[in-house]
Amino acid sequence: MKVIVTKNYTEMSAKAYEVIKQVMQDTEGKAILGLATGSTPIGLYKNMVADYEAGNVSYKNARSVNLDEYVGLPKTHDQSYYYFMHDNLFNHIDIDEDSVNLPDGNTGDPDKACADYTALLATMQQDVQVLGIGSNGHIGFNEPGTPFDSTTHIVKLHEGTRSDNARFFDSLADVPTHAITMGIANIMNAKKILVLASGQGKASAVKAMVQGPVDPACPASVLQNHPDVVVVVDEAAASLLN
Ligand code: PGA
Repeated sequence: MKVIVTKNYTEMSAKAYEVIKQVMQDTEGKAILGLATGSTPIGLYKNMVADYEAGNVSYKNARSVNLDEYVGLPKTHDQSYYYFMHDNLFNHIDIDEDSVNLPDGNTGDPDKACADYTALLATMQQDVQVLGIGSNGHIGFNEPGTPFDSTTHIVKLHEGTRSDNARFFDSLADVPTHAITMGIANIMNAKKILVLASGQGKASAVKAMVQGPVDPACPASVLQNHPDVVVVVDEAAASLLN
């Protein structure tokens, strides 16, 4: 793991974009981008949009796969991850709508949605997978205890994760109870992994990811087993690292 500590969120986002830009150059614009939602990557996406608007990069030949989606929210719901990705990134760059992929959380057959997404991922190895990290060490919606060999699956959200996300909904009761997520094996299959974390609230999860034992109790610790991981964290999130 390569750990880069930046002063603050703005610098974390700029560093993260350098990594993405390099992948876009290395793949001659044909990157398969593994993307994530949450508050952490928003600054990265702003940098991607700004550099696209400046004419320095095109996503017309890129494709994307997203980590996860809530179960039971329509795509048009402003808290669906489909909506988030379009609002923060896809609507502002030239990526083809047919080239963006998220798990289908709004289907009558969740088991089939999981199998379909795992089959899709088998044809789309991520050149880079962007990850945030939960305060409990989750990656995607892979909560503590998730087997490292898991593929796309439905998860019942932990109450801590639901309350972390309640700020985006009218009330805790409105936060979905289940999500569909790439499994840990699908994440680990990426050629490169870019983990972002900002703020004191992530410090103990970052410590466990980088310096703790590799154990399903901290799902992000599995990343120690991956050959190409870049962790970009601000000083607050890095504050417990030795
Ligand atoms: P956040 O979420 O970026 O909103 O902090 C990260 C996560 O829970 O994976």
